[in-house]
Amino acid sequence: MAKFIINGRKPLSGEIEVLGAKNAALKIFPAALLTNGVIRVSNLSQLEDCLKAEELLEFLGYEISKKGERTIEIKEKRFSRVDLPESIMNKFRASIMFVGPVLVKRGEVKFPHPGGCVIGASVRPIDMFLEGFKKMGAALKISDNHYYLKAKKLKGADIFFPKVSVTATESLMMTAVLAEGETILKNSAMEPEIVALADYLNKSGAKIKGAGTPTIIIKGVKKINGGEYEIIPDRIEAGTFAMLAAASNSGDIHIKNCRPEHLESLWALFDRVGINYVLYKNSFVIKRSKKLLSCDITTHEYPGFATDLQPPYTVLMTQTKGSSLIHETIYDRRLLYADMLTQMGANIVMADPHRAVVNGPTRLKGKKLISPDLRAGIALVMAGLIAEGKTEIDNIYQIDRGYEKIDERLKKLGADIKRVESS
Ligand code: UD1
Repeated sequence: MAKFIINGRKPLSGEIEVLGAKNAALKIFPAALLTNGVIRVSNLSQLEDCLKAEELLEFLGYEISKKGERTIEIKEKRFSRVDLPESIMNKFRASIMFVGPVLVKRGEVKFPHPGGCVIGASVRPIDMFLEGFKKMGAALKISDNHYYLKAKKLKGADIFFPKVSVTATESLMMTAVLAEGETILKNSAMEPEIVALADYLNKSGAKIKGAGTPTIIIKGVKKINGGEYEIIPDRIEAGTFAMLAAASNSGDIHIKNCRPEHLESLWALFDRVGINYVLYKNSFVIKRSKKLLSCDITTHEYPGFATDLQPPYTVLMTQTKGSSLIHETIYDRRLLYADMLTQMGANIVMADPHRAVVNGPTRLKGKKLISPDLRAGIALVMAGLIAEGKTEIDNIYQIDRGYEKIDERLKKLGADIKRVESS
């Protein structure tokens, strides 16, 4: 297992590029199952979760060829399997997205419960996916720790999501593209990654209206062609870099190749915290700020403040003056890492599993830590970079899942971070 060793408090400045979004990339692999033809995918990051998605697609009978550093082509070799193997499914939650396309194309699918970050109730539920497929006419059987869904022909349905979920919205949207008749998805998630997926599918022959709003209407079509899918920049990575720059407060950092319009909730908070920043069309600069003030957040589905940005924001609040209330509303295990920040010298009081109060500013000190999950992991890297002394972060597989070669990229800003293989 590899770990990061960080010597903190080095001044950070310069430029850093944002890479393609993990949460946009992951959806093109299941979407490929709908397609007759070749798909060319560009701006694809080299991420553990994407490699797992490629593995799953290849297992199902697809061929993936590399066409450049960040470009691949996907085409069908022989799509005949209808079973999703546990060895890959338990590695990443987004594997659940393959279920709908296999079902609508092959009439049946067998799969175990998907894995991924342990940030929700002990297992992250998939009830909304299952209910959606049932509404579209699939029969469900559960035995031997596997789900079996069967439907000769899926039919359009009127589906209301009791909770807002990005992957449930995308899954049902993709599946409905090849179902018979019209599907209406209500209380859908509105994330930019959903809009990107719908735009791609529409260019390839789908009839989807309303992506990016709570009501999405899909008219089933007979076939989907190949096409081009350029992965949008990762707004979570961009936001994380913005918060690292603000917390380090040591020099100008230009964050390039991103879409500042996807981070409106962050800019609204930055104004209150007193962070000095300039936005451009495809980049932004975080400059040194005079005084940073505390500010409460409540995580919310897009366009609200993203739960994936909550851990870096909490680290930022350890550097601001006053008390800030962090209210995590999406996942009930997403504040557990706060204890690690406390070990580093942060003053954080847990009010309940969903709410923490951060009192700042505090000087953080280096510690030996274990990355608990992807987003908490990057927050610990950020804490290590602004802390005095040496921080060791173990289990960085969890960080590599979502941030490509983060150590090499941060070094270019002046960070002292080293990847070492631990025994
Ligand atoms: C997506 C993102 C993830 C982000 C999350 C919230 C991807 C691959 N991942 O995850 O990075 O943290 O949105 O913005 O795009 N739920 C149910 N039943 C279900 C499904 C979900 O109750 O069947 C609940 C969950 O417990 C949670 C909420 O819905 O409270 C959203 O969670 P989930 O659907 O797991 O998020 P994703 O869309 O998978």
